[in-house]
Amino acid sequence: MCGIVGYIGMQAASDILLAGLQKLEYRGYDSAGIATVSGDRVRCVRAKGKLENLRQKLHGQDDPATIGIGHTRWATHGKPEERNAHPHLDRDAHVAVVQNGIVENYRELREELTAKGYEFLSDTDTETIPHLISDCLKSLKLESLQDKHAEHNEPSLFFAAVRQAVSRLEGAFAIAAICADFPNEMIVVRQQAPLVIGFGQGELFCASDTPAIVPHTRAVLNLENGEIGRLTPLGVEIYTFSGHRLAKMPRLLDWNPVAVEKHGFRHFMLKEIHEQPGVIRDCLAAYFDSHWTPETRVSPVTLGLEDALLEGVESVQVLACGTSWHASLVGKYLLEQLAELPTQVQYASEFRYSPAPMRSNTLTIGVTQSGETADTLAALDMERERRAEATVADRARLLGITNRPESSLGQLVPNIIDTHAGIEIGVAATKTFVAQVMAFYALAIDLGVRRGKLDVDRAMALIDGLRQVPNAIETILSSQEDRIEELAHDFSETSDFIFLGRGINFPIALEGALKLKEISYIHAEGYPAGEMKHGPIALLDARVPVVAIAMPGSVYDKVLSNAQEAKARDARLIGVVPDNDPNASELFDDVLAVPAIDEVLSPIVASIPLQLLSYYIAARRGLDVDQPRNLAKSVTVE
Ligand code: AGP
Repeated sequence: MCGIVGYIGMQAASDILLAGLQKLEYRGYDSAGIATVSGDRVRCVRAKGKLENLRQKLHGQDDPATIGIGHTRWATHGKPEERNAHPHLDRDAHVAVVQNGIVENYRELREELTAKGYEFLSDTDTETIPHLISDCLKSLKLESLQDKHAEHNEPSLFFAAVRQAVSRLEGAFAIAAICADFPNEMIVVRQQAPLVIGFGQGELFCASDTPAIVPHTRAVLNLENGEIGRLTPLGVEIYTFSGHRLAKMPRLLDWNPVAVEKHGFRHFMLKEIHEQPGVIRDCLAAYFDSHWTPETRVSPVTLGLEDALLEGVESVQVLACGTSWHASLVGKYLLEQLAELPTQVQYASEFRYSPAPMRSNTLTIGVTQSGETADTLAALDMERERRAEATVADRARLLGITNRPESSLGQLVPNIIDTHAGIEIGVAATKTFVAQVMAFYALAIDLGVRRGKLDVDRAMALIDGLRQVPNAIETILSSQEDRIEELAHDFSETSDFIFLGRGINFPIALEGALKLKEISYIHAEGYPAGEMKHGPIALLDARVPVVAIAMPGSVYDKVLSNAQEAKARDARLIGVVPDNDPNASELFDDVLAVPAIDEVLSPIVASIPLQLLSYYIAARRGLDVDQPRNLAKSVTVE
């Protein structure tokens, strides 16, 4: 949520900042801006709306500056107007600051600074920071003048001022600051919002996320909470908020910048939908041992988790938001049905303020593709603190499932399952969702076998079944995509949709509805099919299409009956059904056929036509599929 970038080196900073912001635009696109220092002045250019507006504003302007910061905004405090766009400046326009996060005590600070004569030009919390830095800088300069021999154990006055200012801030934030009086340094700060530093040849970068950095270098260093970095032509110095210098080494990223290009697809979302067979193959290779025999190890699952994490577990609680919450609901089904483990799935944002009572022998899992969702991190952190007095075993029972093991989640919990989906740019999660579901299959099979609740033959049959899923997705893409694109034409004016599913496919109905809402702005609801008659059925008429997920298994006939009830109310009925169902076309007005598959393995396969349907409806409506209004890819504020 909000993306920040910074550059210090020998090249023109503004081009590098714009290119970096382009890679971070998925984090917010309400406004964008850059500030550079050259000579003894800060030059700041900002524009409302997408980055393209800023690009046009900068077009033809020659800026020789070789140091600068940039920002792409997801509005929290203050409307998406130019005056609220970052960077924000101090009164003398000498200090420029970009921030990702929220300064929670900004009201008090604003009052204090206003009383001192600082004038605020925006409605943001961020504007307090440059004024505060400026105020600290003024006091420090005065001290130095009054006592010429005063020893500052600080690398520079600007660093000291930022450090003092930051110690006054409450909340979660990542900051980059530059100052016209110190044209050779940039100060970066991290407190519960991501910030990574990149090391180039004679140049340094900083960014909220690595895609902004990898085109230049793969040597990176993640700042940790409570750390301040000083970037100068001589290199990087890292300090704690209390001023102790730390010795830290960069690491090499192993991923390819080409992964963040569209490769001929119209949108990232469509590319990511098509990447899913490959993602599942990668998960299969990472999670299951293809040469396993019961003689070699207890379980065919190779998640690389410590035995102590899983031994003695009697229940599971999962904390997540949005699509990750839906994947966790599939996980609940798997953990309960395959491993006989009672499982609770909580919205992290709710758990934070009304946590379930703590129980021993409970495995807590945080699921977040970005690893940066503020609510999920805070809920997990709270759980970690609650367990501080618990047994050693319970303290260790914290697990994260994420697509970004290097994220804040990776620093928070001792055990991680990497979902191997590759970077996802489209705001609507697709490939990361199916990868999370794969992680739950592996975990549930592992726990089921270890606990003796899932016999080895069934486990191997499930793994063999999962090995068929990539081909099944390819079949759907090749046989259904054109049909779905055509079908989507019929719904470009529709204003309400209902999605029905039962059992393991109820979460898929929720996910289908969420996908449609977030990218097409059509109101959609997902319901357990059997619940429809308890109220939502009143919504139905010929204008409300109903999508029913009817995969053969324990609830197949039940879903078909629920679909009949909808048809009797004139709803247009769309069925996600197996391709070998001869009767489907009698009941359903439109059939989205998927390869027949064991019910317990059907959620991933059933989600694919729903992703395509949402995508093509949104594309047909001419909407910005990858960057839907009001949303951001990672929600790093509460
Ligand atoms: C997914 O399509 C959404 N954009 C959103 O619900 C997302 O899943 C949610 O914000 C959680 O994100 P996370 O997985 O990065 O924690």
